[in-house]
Amino acid sequence: MSEKFYITTPIYYVNDAPHIGHAYTTIAADVLARYFRAEGFDVHFLTGTDEHGIKIVKAAADKGVSPQELADEVVVHFQDLWAKLNISNDDFIRTSQARHEGRVQEIIRRLIERDEIYLGKYEGWYDEGQEEFVTESTARDNEYKSVISDKPLVRYSEPSWFFRLSKWIPKLIAHIETDSTFVQPTSRRNEVLSKLAQGVEDLSISRQSEKLGGWGVPMPNDPDHSVYVWIDALSNYITALGMPGIGDEFDAKGDKYWPADVHLIGKDILWFHAVYWPCLLMALDIPLPKTIFAHGWWTCEGKKMSKSLGNFISCEVLSELCGEYSRDAFRYFVLREVTFGADGDFSREAFGRRYNTELANDLGNLLSRTVNMIGRYFDGAVPKPQQRTLEGVEAEFLSEPIKHLQDESAKMMSRCRFSGYIGAALELASATNRYIDATEPFKLAKDPSQRERLGTILYACAEAVRIVLSYLEPFMPEKSAEGLAHLGVSGVSDGTLSERGRFGLIEPGTKTAKSVPLFPRKLLDQ
Ligand code: MSP
Repeated sequence: MSEKFYITTPIYYVNDAPHIGHAYTTIAADVLARYFRAEGFDVHFLTGTDEHGIKIVKAAADKGVSPQELADEVVVHFQDLWAKLNISNDDFIRTSQARHEGRVQEIIRRLIERDEIYLGKYEGWYDEGQEEFVTESTARDNEYKSVISDKPLVRYSEPSWFFRLSKWIPKLIAHIETDSTFVQPTSRRNEVLSKLAQGVEDLSISRQSEKLGGWGVPMPNDPDHSVYVWIDALSNYITALGMPGIGDEFDAKGDKYWPADVHLIGKDILWFHAVYWPCLLMALDIPLPKTIFAHGWWTCEGKKMSKSLGNFISCEVLSELCGEYSRDAFRYFVLREVTFGADGDFSREAFGRRYNTELANDLGNLLSRTVNMIGRYFDGAVPKPQQRTLEGVEAEFLSEPIKHLQDESAKMMSRCRFSGYIGAALELASATNRYIDATEPFKLAKDPSQRERLGTILYACAEAVRIVLSYLEPFMPEKSAEGLAHLGVSGVSDGTLSERGRFGLIEPGTKTAKSVPLFPRKLLDQ
């Protein structure tokens, strides 16, 4: 039976349409899903929308519609964008779905049974944009405004059910300390640990339903209260699977895929995922996810994204960029430009430059050079090499980058080192370009006595490009397939990615197609 891989994105709020930040996490998750599928794993990839909470209630009121109407309208923008970006999710959960709501109630019932919650009173600050309780000292330090949106915090004073969060903190700290892969990257792990060391109070997990206009999941023991939106939202990672290890409804999917292998999230929601979520799971006696990876934030054209500044990468701008450069190039760029985990800046200029240098020149040119030479010198049939292994000059140029890809790609993917992984594939493309410059097949072509040698060189080039395109497939599924079709080797797609990444698989005699630029060069403004 194949090994499983369960990957999730955050579920996105439906108060507004998606933008580059949402696209970023979802593309990253898609790349992991495609990579692990290509390596033969049984992958389950979940995304969805977070539809409850005061933020949605207020956004709906502003638009004069009900929260459900707003959710129904906005969810389509997310689903359309994921289709446009070629996202291969296996499921899409909406927190207003009955399958989710019933299971959230089941979770609360289980917490009650285990004496993990009690009735108290919440008196303090709340950030309605982040749906987050804020401590007095943090509120004071930021002049009673949201750290994220700068909007004024709201004072809450109401009865509330509390989860005995503090009781689980020592166990959580021990887990984060012993399992260095649990919270990634390391800098974020250290941040969580140092914040935990300052002490954590129990968590308010309900709100008075009337304050939410009845929108939300009712507490099963107290219908005047709705479940706090973050408890509701975090639960999606198990409710979508059908409650592994909990309740009567024991779904085979849950049994098979839980625990999650990676929860991909942005840095602003790390605390919820690294503290509330594992403590809830511990209280429910459900195994913890293996990794929570928090990525950084994008600024755009050097500034924080904002609609009023005109630098907002909305879903319309995303569509336009994909139209201009191809969706694969966009997927590639966002994961190549910035080390996953760090903050980065999106600029059209940087996109255009990287597109021209890496995709049009290094990769696209290599493919056309190879296909054109095979066309011209061997009538469009991959020549027979002197040997189908790497020897001599071929080995000198190509062995090391191929070995590096084979040895390191799995490690890099499992640590979300997307840019490094792409870099390793590009290094093979560059090495092949250098190999062509050094061996000068276009000169050898003029000398009939060098025909065998010429065949060996072009065979090696075809194999190297095939390997590069294969490894880049999770990032650029369509361009990779197109490029492989130019080489005439779409058929060499049996087996796992690592198997396909071996040198020497193309059958001599394979007919190549006519080469058209895979990434047409763009004229960029100076
Ligand atoms: N609904 C919660 C998540 C619940 S998960 C159980 C939420 N939704 S969100 O729609 O506000 O944000 C979703 C994600 O978008 C977060 O991971 C956040 O980090 C990410 N981003 C929002 N703006 C971003 C950038 N400018 N850059 C990168 N990611 C950003 O939070």
